[in-house]
Amino acid sequence: MATNRTFTMLKPDSVEKGYTGAILEKINAAGFKIVAMKQTQMTKDDAETFYEIHKERPFFGDLVEYMTRGPIIAAILEKDNAVEDFRTLIGSTNPAEAADGTIRKAFAISISENAVHGSDSDENAFIEGSFHFSGREIF
Ligand code: RTP
Ligand code: MG
Repeated sequence: MATNRTFTMLKPDSVEKGYTGAILEKINAAGFKIVAMKQTQMTKDDAETFYEIHKERPFFGDLVEYMTRGPIIAAILEKDNAVEDFRTLIGSTNPAEAADGTIRKAFAISISENAVHGSDSDENAFIEGSFHFSGREIF
């Protein structure tokens, strides 16, 4: 049974290129409410922990370097069926395969630098949101 919250990061490429306002507009237009949000920067340790599931993958080192090279916007979003609907809104990991109208189709340049993160399950949404926010930062 789906919960109503997911977690996102607007990744360093989105911040560098000044896309964060346009991406947040799409998120709002799709009906997501922002219940927590901040600009922050992940340390190497943070990124290695956050993406631990991928630690054996060949792209892991590049992923950690990418995610730590500059600030991100982290946010917890609320909507019915949030996890699944947000994955639909962001589109495929590889922007070349992302559907028209998705955030990755519009703003991502490659499978490695793909503009946004979206949690892949309710359990991970909770774990990832708790990684970045304390209870008093969530509304
Ligand atoms: P995310 O976790 O960031 O929302 O992305 P995702 O579920 O769509 O994709 P996932 O398989 O979880 O991969 C995490 C991130 O690692 C980078 N990646 N690079 N070079 C590559 O082949 C490759 N594959 C994945 C991307 O930044 C991807 O979003
Ligand atoms: Mg993922």
